[in-house]
Amino acid sequence: LDNGLALTPPMGWLTWQRFRCITDCQLYPNECISEDLIKRTANIMLSEGYLEAGYNYVGIDDCWLEKKRDKNDRLVPDRERFPNGMKAIGDFLHKKGFKFALYQDYGNKTCAGYPGVLGYEEIDVESFADWDVDYIKLDGCNVDISKMDTGYPYFGKLMNESGRPMVYSCSWPAYQKEPDYASIAKHCNLWRNWDDIQDSWSSLSTIMTWFAENQDTIAQYAGSGKWNDPDMLIIGNYGLSIDQAKVQMAIWSILAAPLFMSVDLATIRPEFKEILLNQDIIAIDQDVLGKQGLRVWNKSQCEIWRRELFDGSYAVAFVNKRDDGTPYLIKASFDAMSIPTNIYEVQDLYNEDEDFSFGPHGNFTTRVNPSGVKYYKFIPMKLNELSQEKFYYV
Ligand code: GLA
Repeated sequence: LDNGLALTPPMGWLTWQRFRCITDCQLYPNECISEDLIKRTANIMLSEGYLEAGYNYVGIDDCWLEKKRDKNDRLVPDRERFPNGMKAIGDFLHKKGFKFALYQDYGNKTCAGYPGVLGYEEIDVESFADWDVDYIKLDGCNVDISKMDTGYPYFGKLMNESGRPMVYSCSWPAYQKEPDYASIAKHCNLWRNWDDIQDSWSSLSTIMTWFAENQDTIAQYAGSGKWNDPDMLIIGNYGLSIDQAKVQMAIWSILAAPLFMSVDLATIRPEFKEILLNQDIIAIDQDVLGKQGLRVWNKSQCEIWRRELFDGSYAVAFVNKRDDGTPYLIKASFDAMSIPTNIYEVQDLYNEDEDFSFGPHGNFTTRVNPSGVKYYKFIPMKLNELSQEKFYYV
């Protein structure tokens, strides 16, 4: 969507994956969807470097509403959990330098059963603008799927006319068998293509496979202002090992995916925090060429994913999906990596190896842990660097 927003994939934090629909603040004071959770999280994001790293949207997913609209048909945030209303949340976030993301649903009800926007589109967009919302995730539960092709653009038009710039995150294609991606990319800044991520390696791995198998259809639609969305980062929660978390961060950056953490930042372990804050990998995700990368090789349950970057370098991830318990040696030709034959300076993006040079002959080899990744940036060497390093073409 060409509205001047989401020029690179949006980044931030969203409640759903970790905090779901926890509404009992007596029983779960640190986990319930509430003003307090948003404020605590934003404070940590500010003081611990997440905002500085680029995670600037703070988002409330489902379960923020009262079950009934008010007498003027306005949406009402839960009175106990959001006692000061949504404008207060917007103000708080803006003061700290964040942007405010909010969930709603195009249907009669949200996926968790709260009032949806259908039939109230105009009045709801007005509320979002009044509350200074910067980003709407519009889900697609409880609505006739055939209505989406006109309904999502209509809601987007209202958002645009509200005069308040709001990123438009659509779940439209996730509900359809054969989505019209040209129309979706024209009307949305990002869109959920497929199933919800769950807190497990098998869920992550299935999503990767879906994105690889559908890349010929979907990758072409990604670019500045319009992104495919494989769903939230589950890094730092219960289901992924450190190696598996590195896989998600690597592949999401190859896919030019929106990076929304959904984790308790008060208790996240430092190893996971370090992965989320990896500046070199975030820079790849945010690369201004905006070209979604692809799975370019797939053999013996090992995969190579490659993304082209604006400066002529390449991000290349070697993923081992095998479960035999020893690192697996992957040997790859330039062809297998789908990068031009050249001499490269190779940087290990997780800093496990020192920088080294590679090419123009031979195979690239690397050992990858089970359900793990080795992630490198291949930077083509210029002639003057080559002579200093005593490499010559013959
Ligand atoms: C759907 C979405 C999720 C989340 C829930 C909330 O399942 O895909 O991301 O927003 O609804 O109910």
